[in-house]
Amino acid sequence: MAKPKRRYVCTECGSVTSRWQGQCPDCQEWNTLVEDVPETAFAAKHHLSAGGREIVFEPLDKPSEPLRRRSSGLAEFDRALGGGIVPGSAILMGGEPGIGKSTLLLQAAAAIARANKGGAGGEAVYISGEEAPQQVRLRATRLGLADAPIRLAAATSVRDILTTLARSAPPALLIIDSIQTMHSDMIEGAPGTVSQVRASAFELIRYAKENGVALVLVGHVTKDGTIAGPRVMEHMVDVVMSFEGERSHQYRILRALKNRFGAVDEIGVFAMEGHGLAEVENPSLLFLSGRDEPLAGSAVFPALEGTRPVLVEIQALIVRLQSGATPRRAVVGWDSGRLAMLLAVLESRCGLNFSSAEVYLNVAGGYRLSDPAADLAVAAALVSALADKPLPLKCIWFGEVSLSGEIRPVAHSSLRLREAAKLGFDRAVGPTEGAGDKPPLAYAGLKGLAGLVDRVVGSA
Ligand code: TYD
Ligand code: MG
Repeated sequence: MAKPKRRYVCTECGSVTSRWQGQCPDCQEWNTLVEDVPETAFAAKHHLSAGGREIVFEPLDKPSEPLRRRSSGLAEFDRALGGGIVPGSAILMGGEPGIGKSTLLLQAAAAIARANKGGAGGEAVYISGEEAPQQVRLRATRLGLADAPIRLAAATSVRDILTTLARSAPPALLIIDSIQTMHSDMIEGAPGTVSQVRASAFELIRYAKENGVALVLVGHVTKDGTIAGPRVMEHMVDVVMSFEGERSHQYRILRALKNRFGAVDEIGVFAMEGHGLAEVENPSLLFLSGRDEPLAGSAVFPALEGTRPVLVEIQALIVRLQSGATPRRAVVGWDSGRLAMLLAVLESRCGLNFSSAEVYLNVAGGYRLSDPAADLAVAAALVSALADKPLPLKCIWFGEVSLSGEIRPVAHSSLRLREAAKLGFDRAVGPTEGAGDKPPLAYAGLKGLAGLVDRVVGSA
C-alpha cells in the first residue's frame, strides 16, 4: 500500500502545501504550517455511520426566547453592536495600537458597573495584560471614572483568570485587554502566537458561553489590517468589531465586521477628547467643521454608513509639473485604483488633461470612504481644482461614474438629500433619477461627466 502523502496546512490562511516550510508561501506568516492528518486507509474502512448518539432535528419556527440585550452605557457602542451587548456573546474588538480600545472598554465597563450599583445589572471585570493596575487607575481618574466599582486586575494566565472567576458569581461583562497577551498553559508557545491566541480565546469563550457572560477580547491589528492571530479567532467569536481612525485626528469609528446578532451596517462615531471618548451624535457637523468659504477643489459628499448619512468633505489639489518628472498621485481616505479610473474617464471622455499634473486627494477628518456613490463628488473636486473654480459652498455631490462617463443612480438618495437639507445645504447634484418625489433642496440631475465639467467651469 502506498504511504499516505504528508500535507501541511497553514493555521493562518488555511493554504495547503506538500512540504513543510518556515514561512507560509501564501500569506507569508512565519511558523504557521502544521501537519495535517491525511486520510488513511483506516479512515476509509471504518465508517462513522454507526455507534453515535442520535441528534434531534429542530423546526425553524419554534418560538424562542427573545434576544436579551444590555446597554453598554454608550449609545454609539450599542448602535454599532446592533442594539446592545448580548449576554453570553463573545466580541472581538480589533484596532491599531493607540486608537482607543482600552479607553472605550473602560468607559463601557464603568457604565455597566455603575448601573449595577442598584443591583440591576451585573459586575464588570477588566483584566489587563498590557498595563499595570496603576496605569489603568490613572486612566480611569482622567476619565472621571475612578469611583466605578469595576473589578480590575493585571493578569495574563488564562488558568489564573478562570480559576478566580469561578470563585464568585459570573460578571455581566468580562474584558480581556488584550488576547495577544494571554497565555494558556495547556499548550506551548509564547503569548501572541497563533496557537496561544486560539487556545486562550477558546477557553475564555467557553467560560463566557457557559456562564452567560458577555466577553470582549481586545485584539491588536497588524499593519495590513488583519487582527493578529486572526482568522482563527474571527470564526470563534459572535461579533467582530473594528475601531478605526487616524491617530492624528479626533474621530474614531466603531464598525461591526461580523455580527451573529444583528446587522453589520451601523457605525458608532466617537471623538477622542482630553477626558476620553465622547459620543458624536451628529458626525456630519464634525467632519465638515471649518468650512466657511468656497475653495477650489473642495466638494461635499453625503456618504452613507448603514442607514446613517454622514456628510464629508473631499479635497483635491492639482499641481502642474514642469515637464519631465513622473507626476505623483496620492490618496488619503479613498481607493487609489478608483482615483486612477476616474482620472482616466475624465481624460478620455471630457478631454481634461491630468497627465503632467500631480494629483492629491484627501477625505477630510481622517474619514475613510468606501461608498461608490462618492465618484461624482471626487470628480467635482478634481475638476474644480483643475479649473481653479470653487464649487458652491452649500452644495452636495453624489453618484457613481461608469467607465463611459455616465452618472449612475445610487442607493438611498432621499436619505442623503434629507441629511444635507437638515444641515443647511440648499443644492444637490446627482444622477438624473436621484431626486425622488419631492427633493428637500434644489436638485440638478446630471447624465454624464461632460455635464459636470460645464457646470463647474461655467458656474463661477
Ligand atoms: P488607548 O485606549 O490606550 O488605545 P489602545 O488600547 O487602542 O491601544 O488610547 C490611547 C490614546 O488615546 C493615547 O495615545 C492617548 C489618547 N487619549 C486621549 O486623547 N484622551 C484620553 O482621555 C485618553 C484616556 C486617551
Ligand atoms: Mg490598550
